[in-house]
Amino acid sequence: MSTPTVRLPADDGAIEEAARAILAGRPVAVPTETVYGLAADATNGEAVARIYQAKGRPSFNPLITHVPDLATAERYGLFDPATLALAETHWPGPLTLVVPLRPGGSIASIVTAGLPSIGLRVPAHPVMQALLRASGRPLAAPSANASGRISPTRAEHVLASLDGRIPLLLDAGPTERGIESTIIAATGGPLRLLRPGPVEVPEAQRAGSGQIEAPGMMSSHYAPIKPLRLDATQAQPGEWLIGFGPVPGRSTLSAGSDLVEAAANLFSALHEADESPCEAIAVAPVPADGLGAAINDRLRRAAADRG
Ligand code: TXA
Ligand code: MG
Repeated sequence: MSTPTVRLPADDGAIEEAARAILAGRPVAVPTETVYGLAADATNGEAVARIYQAKGRPSFNPLITHVPDLATAERYGLFDPATLALAETHWPGPLTLVVPLRPGGSIASIVTAGLPSIGLRVPAHPVMQALLRASGRPLAAPSANASGRISPTRAEHVLASLDGRIPLLLDAGPTERGIESTIIAATGGPLRLLRPGPVEVPEAQRAGSGQIEAPGMMSSHYAPIKPLRLDATQAQPGEWLIGFGPVPGRSTLSAGSDLVEAAANLFSALHEADESPCEAIAVAPVPADGLGAAINDRLRRAAADRG
């Protein structure tokens, strides 16, 4: 994108405009009480892929999904009684809870990076709250800075690294907290502190060495179980080929060689191949420019993780 970013004071009209951009699949920078976030519709995989495109982030990470209230959070995640109590105490506020993903929900798989868990947060900032309600969508939002730059606590910080890379920035002055939310994992077993932040949860244990992790739940990355072969131009016997562009497959990341579409489809394509009757997975070559860097990073890790 080469047009300069439109920066608007976050009044009602600007929030309406931001909601329209969200519904059109475009990411918008918006203040929260911690840092400015780069928000996109969490039910639209291509919209979320455009967050990565704007940030120039060379790898995929699970993103925090922001929702207006606990009732909405329960549509996307599963809360046990202890976790529900934490949410009731600290929401709205700078606490993210990683909980099991509710099956059959509408969150795009790129948001959770294919994991069976989801990070949920009810932000307290009135502008983010207004955008959540005006758009009616759950919003995936990492910090609104280019990859490798410090987290933005003022609109100027957002523009310093993302000007011209995003259509719209809602300016509501400096953020109150200035550091990212506390992240607690509540996916079974004791609560675990994944990232310290403004909210203290004394009963959570620091995540790290020596902890027993439920397989597939707390590893921060989804990897397929089956062997994965890269840069395949045709399937070998027993392989499920995931195509791209001119290489057709049993499924395809993007028949039209569109990297935004490919990023949006990546994790669901891997899951589909993993769950198929085929014993191995092959993936067609994906160019390494732009979003392709993040796609190739994820594929290389998935291939290398095999025993
Ligand atoms: O204060 C904040 O949390 C800000 C504002 C914008 O809300 N957001 C933010 O997002 O810091 P981000 O993308 O920079 O941090 C997300 C963190 C990552 O470290 C990720 O690993 C973790 O949350 N996370 C999200 N979902 C997860 C999951 N299902 N399992 C494990 N970790 C998860
Ligand atoms: Mg960040």
